[in-house]
Amino acid sequence: MTRFDERLQCVSCEARYGVLEVRYRCECGGLLSLERKVGWARELSPAQFDARLTSRRAVDRSGVWRFREAVLGCDEREIVTHPEGATRLYESARLAEYAGIASIRFKHEGENPTGSFKDRGMTVATTQAVRTGARAVACASTGNTSASLAAYAAGAGLRAIVFVPAGKIAMGKLAQTLAYGATVLAVRGDFDDAMRLVDEASTKLGIYLLNSINPFRIEGQKTIGWEILQDLNWHAPDWIVLPAGNLGNTSAIGKAMLEAYEGGWIDKLPRIASVQALGANPFYRGFMGGFQERFRMQAETIASAIRIGDPVSWDKARAVIAKTNGVVTEVTDDAILDAKTAIDAAGIGCEPASACSLAGARRLRSEGVIGRDETVVGILTGNLLKDPEIVLKRFEREGGSRMIEIDPKIDDVARVLG
Ligand code: F0G
Repeated sequence: MTRFDERLQCVSCEARYGVLEVRYRCECGGLLSLERKVGWARELSPAQFDARLTSRRAVDRSGVWRFREAVLGCDEREIVTHPEGATRLYESARLAEYAGIASIRFKHEGENPTGSFKDRGMTVATTQAVRTGARAVACASTGNTSASLAAYAAGAGLRAIVFVPAGKIAMGKLAQTLAYGATVLAVRGDFDDAMRLVDEASTKLGIYLLNSINPFRIEGQKTIGWEILQDLNWHAPDWIVLPAGNLGNTSAIGKAMLEAYEGGWIDKLPRIASVQALGANPFYRGFMGGFQERFRMQAETIASAIRIGDPVSWDKARAVIAKTNGVVTEVTDDAILDAKTAIDAAGIGCEPASACSLAGARRLRSEGVIGRDETVVGILTGNLLKDPEIVLKRFEREGGSRMIEIDPKIDDVARVLG
């Protein structure tokens, strides 16, 4: 038995299953969560995690495994790490002004090994895949999960199969996925079709499923939240704002905050704000209707990472919004692109979906939901280079006046610079 008596537990009916059992849903159809004995977090302390910051061991340097007792009770030799996390927290006066907030910080998850926050969940779920004896792993993806899965599967020597919506994922993500050696099944349909297909394929063909419906993914992604707290010396911010698609990350950040609060690691619970694109907003619609109904839709948005109409982790995310006194908002594609341009121009940079954090914070501030003097941390989920086409297209539309072709002569330089 693990130190904290880990088990898989249904979020609906609370049925329990052993951690080494390969299953992604309860018999009742509910989502599964990795849970531990009552009061476990009180047996751990921030000081213990802080002490690891000066260590040179990979498991301490990893911003995931630094919190290992609270992530996965396994033998350290089993860990498949790259080592991920340990991303930077940026503060920008310009972006604070843009949002209308006194100060805003951004946790840049695009600084992970494959350029997105997915690596944090993937290191844990890949470790678990190996523990259960899996030979092949699969996921459906809008691109980042597939890139991350491909990299970690390569590291662990597992066969990688990814299901992506054909022609609908950003170029950088597709290139990474192929480069790391995965087999790519380009599904003629959207992400939601690919998700249903991989779900069925994993059960029927016995392939280990690495989507965020896999509770071990969520355990790794929790560490984004804990690292933010650690960066802030365990002073919780008032708000954590993040983009929302399949709702795995909303579920993970919420679980992290609730566990940190229950463990006494922080003395107040941050409010979670999930931000959806207007054309892919089923969760926002649910929130507006008091979550009486679960919405599904045909999704369309420029932010391809969150072009998702039937999010898998709905029930977990709904509970997070309720328990953290959180909110869900929506932003237009124009607002996303405008915020992305601001983040890029601040020299920080991110992919389109990530800019929902800033666009959402700005909207919530303008509505008075976020106060001017409240402390806000936005999560930038992916790297600018994931989707270079979107930058270049915008640049072309603007007339491209900052890229000027010249002859290799000093006179030309002087002439064009005026
Ligand atoms: N931001 C980026 C850059 C993403 O890639 C994703 C999800 C999200 C935000 C939303 O997070 O799904 O947990 O609510 N990308 C998944 C993928 C779906 O396949 O890469 P979520």
